[in-house]
Amino acid sequence: MPSQIYIKDLFNSISTKYDLLNNLLSLGLHWSWKKKFVRMIKNDNNRKVLDAATGTGDIAALLHHENINVTGIDLSPGMIEVANQRFKNITFEVADTLNLKFDENLFDASSIAFGIRNTESVEEALTELARVSKKYVYVLEFGTPQNKVFKNVYFFMMKKFIPTLGKIFGMKSSYQYLIDSSIKFPSDKKFIELADSLKIFKKTSYKAVFGGICYIYKLEI
Ligand SMILES: C[S@@+](CC[C@H](N)C(=O)[O-])C[C@H]1O[C@@H](n2cnc3c(N)ncnc32)[C@H](O)[C@@H]1O
Repeated sequence: MPSQIYIKDLFNSISTKYDLLNNLLSLGLHWSWKKKFVRMIKNDNNRKVLDAATGTGDIAALLHHENINVTGIDLSPGMIEVANQRFKNITFEVADTLNLKFDENLFDASSIAFGIRNTESVEEALTELARVSKKYVYVLEFGTPQNKVFKNVYFFMMKKFIPTLGKIFGMKSSYQYLIDSSIKFPSDKKFIELADSLKIFKKTSYKAVFGGICYIYKLEI
């Protein structure tokens, strides 16, 4: 797992280009994945949500748009600065998902999108998010596509296309890390096994998004 200092520096260094690169690298598709994630959170009647690893605030803004009371936190001051500039009426704070200052059960639910694989400990992150939430922890994260042919094409494209774009933007090693961590991350059943091993969730489930490029995990407390 990466060190907190490495992650904080990485995201501070790409914060002002993060949104542009996200749109380019996913061809804008990340918005439909994020909207699906937020729809699930809304349909479970959550009124107050903590969005951890909020980055530049996309998920927090989509939740806010659904009239959900949201607080966004992130380790990187650079990312939080961009979030604050983009969305003035949402509360954002610099904080570590592994060590939250919030009381137990303060939120109905917590969410973490494309952030959990960057934390030093997935287990500690889930435990801390469950501690501050009454009902659910929702995770959106990259994973391994289920179809073998699609998986090979997707991983080939990722390894070719993303480092080239990273190079153009002068951030080759940062983007290499982001690809490697996505490929290595335990997805679908493996992630559920990990969550179940913590013995804090009474029900766990997952949904593949876009053939398994990403997964949404719903962990019920
Ligand atoms: C790939 S970005 C995702 C941002 C946003 N959720 C999105 O979907 O666009 C990952 C974010 O996780 C944050 N992060 C990594 N480890 C963290 C931790 N322990 N606590 C809080 N934020 C963390 C990084 O600073 C970065 O902003």
